[in-house]
Amino acid sequence: MHFDIFTLFPGMFEGPLTESILKRAQERGLLSIALHNIRDAATDKHHIVDDYPYGGGAGMVMKPEPIFAAVEPVYQGGPIILLSPQGRLFSQQLAQTLAQEPRVTLLCGHYEGVDERVREHLVTDEVSIGDYVLTGGELAAMVVVDAVSRLVPGVLADESAQEESHSSGLLEYPHYTRPPEFRSWRIPDVLLSGTTSRLRGGGARSR
Ligand SMILES: C[S@@+](CC[C@H](N)C(=O)[O-])C[C@H]1O[C@@H](n2cnc3c(N)ncnc32)[C@H](O)[C@@H]1O
Repeated sequence: MHFDIFTLFPGMFEGPLTESILKRAQERGLLSIALHNIRDAATDKHHIVDDYPYGGGAGMVMKPEPIFAAVEPVYQGGPIILLSPQGRLFSQQLAQTLAQEPRVTLLCGHYEGVDERVREHLVTDEVSIGDYVLTGGELAAMVVVDAVSRLVPGVLADESAQEESHSSGLLEYPHYTRPPEFRSWRIPDVLLSGTTSRLRGGGARSR
């Protein structure tokens, strides 16, 4: 699976996308992530990417020209998702749908957001990661990449994604590991009885 991420701040992605499971998935060729700096596509001398809003109001708006100029030469199909507080709420179901796509494009807004013509004529979908406002779409894009990537076949070493919270409308059962007793808190006796594998599947919680 391939992600193209368009952002004004590609440096923000360095930690989360280059560690742990996502790092290994990229090394194993299961996942590729290309970061594109929208500022590089601005053709004016100062690489300006934002401007004042028509009609006034606080803050700056990301200009349409650099965004179209950055995305169009790279785009090879699949959804173009604008991270936006006005978008549909991201969920495990949407992560599962996106994990079927060979390519996903993510566009990170900043400042007051993007010019409306980007929403109308470039993006195919708008996704919010929650009912709160972030400084920019970068953290939201990282959340989407993380949740989707771990559902790509082979990325997780075992079948843990199939039994996880939200995958079937339930929340996952509690986990214990050794020692069986810690500060006088014992794990449930049933887990020591040898019937754990049968019980695991039936122990899910509902919210
Ligand atoms: C400061 S926010 C803009 C907020 C906008 N003026 C509003 O009131 O809806 C800047 C950018 O952060 C991103 N963003 C903020 N909150 C988000 C959220 N909950 N989910 C996804 N992206 C978000 C979007 O890309 C947005 O364009």
